[in-house]
Amino acid sequence: MQKELKIALLGYGVVGSAVAKALIENEKIIKARCGVSIKPVIALAKSKKPNALVPISTDIEEVINRDDIDIFAELMGGIETPFEIVSKLLKRKKAVVTANKAMLAYHRYELEALAKDSFLGYEASVAGGIPIIKILKEGLSANNILSLKAILNGTSNFILSAMSKGGVNFKDTLQKAQNLGYAEADPSFDIKGFDAAHKLLILASIAYGVRAKPEDILIQGIDEIGAEDMYFASEFDYTIKLLGIAKAQKDKVELRVHPCLIPKDEMLAKVNGVMNAISVGGDMLEESLYYGAGAGGNATASAVISDLMEFARTNKQKSVLGFVSELSYTLVPKDEICTKYYLRLKVEDKIGVLSKITQLMSENAISIDSFLQKPKQDEIYSTLFFTTHHTFEKSVQNFLAILKKQEFMKAEPFMIRIEQ
Ligand code: HSE
Repeated sequence: MQKELKIALLGYGVVGSAVAKALIENEKIIKARCGVSIKPVIALAKSKKPNALVPISTDIEEVINRDDIDIFAELMGGIETPFEIVSKLLKRKKAVVTANKAMLAYHRYELEALAKDSFLGYEASVAGGIPIIKILKEGLSANNILSLKAILNGTSNFILSAMSKGGVNFKDTLQKAQNLGYAEADPSFDIKGFDAAHKLLILASIAYGVRAKPEDILIQGIDEIGAEDMYFASEFDYTIKLLGIAKAQKDKVELRVHPCLIPKDEMLAKVNGVMNAISVGGDMLEESLYYGAGAGGNATASAVISDLMEFARTNKQKSVLGFVSELSYTLVPKDEICTKYYLRLKVEDKIGVLSKITQLMSENAISIDSFLQKPKQDEIYSTLFFTTHHTFEKSVQNFLAILKKQEFMKAEPFMIRIEQ
C-alpha cells in the first residue's frame, strides 16, 4: 500500500467539510493507526466556498475523472444521480465511501456487484456515530441475529421526546432539528419514516441478506401522532418511539418501521433527543445495545473516515454487504405481521357505538387488552382508546377499513403498534 491516499470529497456541506477538517486535524493519529496519510485534495461543491479547507471544484466530470484520486467520498445525497456517479467510479475500479442511505436502500446490491474488484464503504449511512455496520459485519458475525430494534432517525426522536414532555409545537421542534443539521433536505423523509426505513434495509442486508426495497416493507411516520396519544401513553406507562424493527424466525424475517408504544422502563424508551440507539438480539450474546449520535457533521465524518482507514489497511473487501455465499432470509409479507395494537377512535357519544365497535373487532378476530374512554370536557365527540392482544396486521387493516365507513366515526381512526 502506498504511503498517501488522495481523497476527493463529492459534496462539501455539513459532512464534507467536517471530513476535511477531521482529516487535517487528526492527521497524525489517523496515520499512526493505519500507516497511511489520508489527504483530501479536492472537493466538489455546487458553488465556490471562500473559506474551504480544500480546493473546490464545481465541475463534476473534472473531479470524478481524475486518475490520481484513490478514494471518492460520496456525500451529495439524492438517489439516482449519486448511483450513476458511484457506479461509474466502481466500474473504473475506484474505491468509494458513501454516507448515502437512500441510494443504498434502492441500489445496494447493484453497487455490491460493481464493487467486486474495488471497495465500497458505507459505515456513515446508518447512525453515523454508532459503528453498527462494522458491529454487525464483524463483531457479531458469529450470531444468528434474532432481532434488531432501533431508533434510527434523530429528527423524529427529537420531536417525539419533546412531545412527550408536552406543550410543544411540531413545526418549531422540526425546525430546531433542522438547525442542528440533523434533518434531511426534505424533512418528510424524517417524519414519514423513510429515512429510518432506508437505514433498516441496509442493516437487514447485513444481518439477513434481504434484498427488500422501501416499498416492500411496512412504513408509518410520526406525523399523525397527537397530544392525545401522548396522554394515553403516559397514563399506561408507555413511551412513543419511531422504531425500525427486524424479527427473524427460521429463514423468514419481518421488517417494519413505525411509531411504537414501548414500556417506559425499557432502555430504548430512555433514548431521547436526536440520539440513535440499536438493540441487537443475537442467539449467542442475547441483547446488546448501541447508543450514540445518529447524524451531524462530526459523527458522520467519524464514520466516513473509519471507512477510509479500513481501505487504507485492507485495500479490498471480501463482501460489501456481509454475505460471501448465498444464504438469505425471505421477507414476511406485511399482512402476516402479528403484533399488539393501540387504537384511537373519535366517535359520536351515543348508545350502541361501543357495542358496534367491539362487535366489529370480534368479527375481525381482534381481542381487546385494555380500554379507556377519555371524558369529553370541551370536545363535541368522545375519544376511545383500545389496546389489543396479538393480532394480524391484515385483521387490523380490515377492521379499520370497515370502521371508517361507520357514521358514528368523527375522524380517521388512528393506530400505533405496540412493541412489548
Ligand atoms: N435525517 C437523519 C436523522 C440524519 O434525523 O437522523 C442522518 O441520517
